Amino acid sequence: MAFKRMELEDWFDNYQFEVDYDIGESGVKFFTVKDLGVDLSDVQLRYGHHKGNPELRELIASGFPGLKASHVAVTSGASESIFAIMASLLGPSDNVLVEVPTYPSLYHIPQSLERDVSLYFLKYEDEFKLDIDRLAKEIRPNTKLICLTHPNNPTGSVITKVELEEVIKLVESKGIYLLMDETYRDLTFDEPLPLAATLSPKVISVSSMSKAFGVPGIRIGWVAADEWIIDSVRAVREQITICNPAPSEKIAMSILQRKDEFLKGIKANVIDNFRLMNEWIQKRDDIEWIPPKGGVVGFPRLVKDEAADDLCRLLVERYRTFVVPGYCLKMPRHFRLGYGGHKEEIINGLERLDKALRELYSTQK
Ligand SMILES: Cc1ncc(COP(=O)(O)O)c(C=O)c1O
Repeated sequence: MAFKRMELEDWFDNYQFEVDYDIGESGVKFFTVKDLGVDLSDVQLRYGHHKGNPELRELIASGFPGLKASHVAVTSGASESIFAIMASLLGPSDNVLVEVPTYPSLYHIPQSLERDVSLYFLKYEDEFKLDIDRLAKEIRPNTKLICLTHPNNPTGSVITKVELEEVIKLVESKGIYLLMDETYRDLTFDEPLPLAATLSPKVISVSSMSKAFGVPGIRIGWVAADEWIIDSVRAVREQITICNPAPSEKIAMSILQRKDEFLKGIKANVIDNFRLMNEWIQKRDDIEWIPPKGGVVGFPRLVKDEAADDLCRLLVERYRTFVVPGYCLKMPRHFRLGYGGHKEEIINGLERLDKALRELYSTQK
């Protein structure tokens, strides 16, 4: 079994602390404990419930009609949810079909577990929309699980309710499962779809406090699914993390108790930043993108058919500005931009992106 490093995380670990402007981050701007006003002084630092704090599970479930706390397990980020689902659901000869581009864990984990992994690529030419007929053709006799991510990281593409229902019909007809990574659901520009796991016992929803709520450092995510899947997730995590950090669970509860109010300001800022970035890109003739419809990231590409690696390296090394090169996400002509941060930082970052693009193309002439 080989756990190789993920190129995306390698890039982050090398550069994210070395820059002045971060316009590649996949979440909203981080909060401090002080910003949140959470008093942690009474938190008992004991082992917690293995499926997560019952009050926190109730709070998560209460946000979605039809969902009960017994359908929820709280984990160390969505990352642990994904690991536990892959480790418990996929047998040695099972295939998993993963939509890409996406957060690379979704294919790295089953590859590391030596499961059979196939990839279904969203295409720029299709505006990164899901083509269900093409997806259906990729299903093999041993496929047990399909993984989709919408709103998508890095493309910002979304799935419609009709498409989601069609995919659910497809997995039900094949007797297989759908893992919907809904980490960005709360940041859909329009009304979010129902939580996918509430639509069928064949659907597993994964989500997180990391992206929409600006607290990736608390490492709290969750999975919503049929109760037997929740039990399997617990069995896996009892061998890796056992339970969640008690201070993190308290912070997550404090945010979710004021979820709507909390998200209102965040969403307004995100949409404002998106408009700014979209206008900036639309005026250019050297890069182009499919405007995102949700989340906080987009995936522009160079108009010239070449890899964006040089651009990203130049940006980070000379202009101290962080974006994510597309090779980390299996599409090298692209790079990821994030618009979840402070407006000022985005404006400064885009100015440097402009300089880097000019420098790159002037040296190529
Ligand atoms: C789509 C998606 N899923 C899951 C994760 C993992 O998030 P975390 O483990 O911080 O909850 C990420 C992180 O970038 C992501 O973008």
